[in-house]
Amino acid sequence: MYIELRDINKSYGDFKASDNVNFGIEKGKLVALLGPSGSGKTTILRMIAGLEHPDSGDIIIDGQRVNDIPASKRGIGFVFQSYALFRYMTVFDNIAFGLQVKKADKKAVQERVTELIKLIGLEGFENRYPSQLSGGQRQRVAFARALAPNPQVLLLDEPFAAIDAKVRQELRRWLKEMIRKLGVTSIFVTHDQDEALDVADEIIVTNSGRIEQTGSPLEIYRAPATAFTSSFFGQTSELEDYTRFKFFDRVDNYDKAFVRPEFIKMTKKDEIQKYKNSAAEGIVEDIAFRGNYIEYTVNSNGSTFIAHRALDEEKVEVGEKVDVFIYRLFITVGNEVRLLKNGSIREEMVVI
Ligand SMILES: Nc1ncnc2c1ncn2[C@@H]1O[C@H](COP(=O)(O)OP(=O)(O)OP(=O)(O)O)[C@@H](O)[C@H]1O
Ligand SMILES: [Mg+2]
Repeated sequence: MYIELRDINKSYGDFKASDNVNFGIEKGKLVALLGPSGSGKTTILRMIAGLEHPDSGDIIIDGQRVNDIPASKRGIGFVFQSYALFRYMTVFDNIAFGLQVKKADKKAVQERVTELIKLIGLEGFENRYPSQLSGGQRQRVAFARALAPNPQVLLLDEPFAAIDAKVRQELRRWLKEMIRKLGVTSIFVTHDQDEALDVADEIIVTNSGRIEQTGSPLEIYRAPATAFTSSFFGQTSELEDYTRFKFFDRVDNYDKAFVRPEFIKMTKKDEIQKYKNSAAEGIVEDIAFRGNYIEYTVNSNGSTFIAHRALDEEKVEVGEKVDVFIYRLFITVGNEVRLLKNGSIREEMVVI
């Protein structure tokens, strides 16, 4: 492991911002730290960077314990969420900042900054000020500035939070590509599940100062390990009483049951429904057009949940009665998660 956090605890007064945090990150990986607001993501980044100190535990980078090494000597680049650039410095000077602090010689600075400006595709923008750039361009400059001193680790705290959806998607693809090209071990913080699933090699899920689960996007999405992660991803809806849906095993002491849209087949009354006998009747309460699919809010057996239909399927109206078949669902028992499959398709593979 290139970066390791071992038994890290950190409190602010009585509040535990990091509660026995343990994880490891391999060299060259792009890892997402994902969790709700206040779950301790920034605290973890700041401790790795040396801007904050754990009360106990070890932080190891490249085999060396860095707890007592000051931030400036850790070889870490940091991209902050907003106001990342110095307003009164040009693009060139912003990027050169870290090198000038280290008193690099003028020619080396010129070369490195020129190389980075090319890398981020902003040639010709050297003399602009941050106010003369778009949000996306500013974040590219912030990225170049963090990379300038050639850090071994790059930390990004919600780098795209202030950027609108379309540009944000382009930027995160761009970031992934850059990081792969440069091979710099990177951790980025986000509370956007889609962003984490889209970009990360590995996801670390945080909740209330603890690590809930770590794994690849696919692993975490398919096999949530805790009650929290099972409800955190996808458009998860909670079912009031799952046992009212036919052909699911009964688990007496379950706490909650969740479904995702891809677990549900919703059909019009006159459409073919392969599992018609096992389907429940539902009524459509709301419709939202999502571009490449239509999202329906359905009520069935006392529960309200989200189902999808493709654009080329016949439209369903609000108030229309439909058939709803649930292929599978998650139930939680304490902090444990179990996947239940509908008994009427027991032998079939369901691919999500
Ligand atoms: N310097 C501080 N003094 C007191 N409490 C703090 C301090 N820094 C953070 N906290 C608290 O620690 C908890 C974790 O904060 P942190 O900033 O790590 O959360 P986060 O996951 O990054 O949240 P967000 O998504 O909102 O940025 C929060 O409840 C916060 O109020
Ligand atoms: Mg934060």
